[in-house]
Parts: sequence; structure tokens; C-alpha cells
Amino acid sequence: MCIDSNEYKEEYGNSGYHNLSENTSKLENEDHMNVKPSILYFGTPVVLISSLDKDGNANLSPMSSAWALGYHVVLGLATSGKTYENLEATRELTLNFPDKDMWESVEGLAPLTGKNPVPPFKAGRYRYESDKFRAANLTAVDSEVVRPPLVKECPLQMEAVVKNICVLSEGGADAAIVEVSVVKLHARKDIVLDERHIDPAKWKPLIYSFRHYFSLGE
Ligand SMILES: Cc1cc2nc3c(=O)[nH]c(=O)nc-3n(C[C@H](O)[C@H](O)[C@H](O)COP(=O)(O)O)c2cc1C
Repeated sequence: MCIDSNEYKEEYGNSGYHNLSENTSKLENEDHMNVKPSILYFGTPVVLISSLDKDGNANLSPMSSAWALGYHVVLGLATSGKTYENLEATRELTLNFPDKDMWESVEGLAPLTGKNPVPPFKAGRYRYESDKFRAANLTAVDSEVVRPPLVKECPLQMEAVVKNICVLSEGGADAAIVEVSVVKLHARKDIVLDERHIDPAKWKPLIYSFRHYFSLGE
């Protein structure tokens, strides 16, 4: 269920959010200054989402607006993408977490979309690709519970089903919050301590921070 908070509307206006461009207040001091970044990707792991269209064709897309709470994962997705279309239609996915060494595969997927024709605002920057696994030189392997395949090369893989979709109504936003429930996990043996624990010292996710790729330090 998506709740549209009236309290927020009362405090911040009808959109429910602060409008940064209209915010003229200043909170500057010796240590901090006001900034207005063009993007707010403050650093989250890259996830490769595999999904199927209604005819059973697989798509694979990089994304990074994801976080977990218990066995639920919340995804921020553009509604113009093939992944969103597939999740709405078939409600199953796999979340595949590349490690730091896989950034070139992720960059190989970056200019691709499974949408045909390419949406007008992506024209010139993106091209349609029907087989993104092949394009990125990645291997699709069968999942155990859901139908979309896993990405063999990713050390951490999750099978999941869509629970809720909440389309963001903020002025013209082309995005949705998709809540998924993880139903099966697979981890490469070299990153686990035991069946209940991933070894955080061994697991080196690929972090996407302000549009640059990073690993974790010691
Ligand atoms: C590292 C990385 C992170 C991205 N994160 C997101 C994201 O969180 N949400 C999103 O909708 N798109 C994200 N994108 C953009 C999509 O991958 C892109 O729109 C792609 O064309 C979607 O493919 P599809 O249309 O086949 O689903 C990201 C791209 C890259 C390379």
C-alpha cells in the first residue's frame, strides 16, 4: 500500500516535498556550504535486475537505487524502462550483485535498453538490445524458484517476487518504487562464512557513487 501523507502536504505544499530551487534559506558555516548537486546518487551497490516479458524473453538492466529491510528490497525504477514494464507484467525478478571487478560488464549494459523502439528521451544515447546477457558477455543460468534467470558471474544473487508498486506522483516524475520480496538467495562459496552469514570482509560490492564506480576498503 502507498500512503500519501497529508501531514507532509500541509508542511511542504501540495507536492509533499521541499522544492530545492525555491529554498532560499542559507545554512552556511566554516565546515559546510549549500550545494545543489545535479544528481543525488550518494553511493549504493549496483544491482543487475533480470526480468521476463510476457512472452518469456529475458532482459537485464543495471540499477543502483535499491535498499533492503529484512527480506524485502525496495527499488527505484524509471517507468519508461523495459525492466519496469516486465515487472508490472510478470512480477518476478532476480537481483544480481556484481563485485568490484565487474564494472566493465556494467558499463557494457549502461547504454542499452530492452525497449523497442527506444523511448524518445533516450534516443541517441541508448540503443535497443534484445539479448543483453550476450551483449555484456554474461551468463544466464536457471533460477530455482522464479522464472527470470540468474547472472552466473555475480557472487551474490537473489530471486524475488514483486509485492507492491507505487508510482511517484511528484510533478511529471517518471519513476516508481517497487517493493519486492526475496524468496531465495545464492552466494558464491568464497564470500560466505556459513549458511547464515555473508563474510563482509570478503564481499566487495560495486558501489555507484555520484555516477562513479567504487569498491569497499578494508
Ligand atoms: C550503474 C547504473 C545504475 C543505474 N541505476 C538506475 C536506477 O536505480 N533506476 C533506474 O530506473 N535506472 C537506473 N539506471 C539506468 C538504467 O540502467 C537504464 O535506463 C536502462 O536503459 C534500463 O534498461 P531497460 O529499459 O532495458 O530496463 C542505472 C544505470 C547504471 C549504468
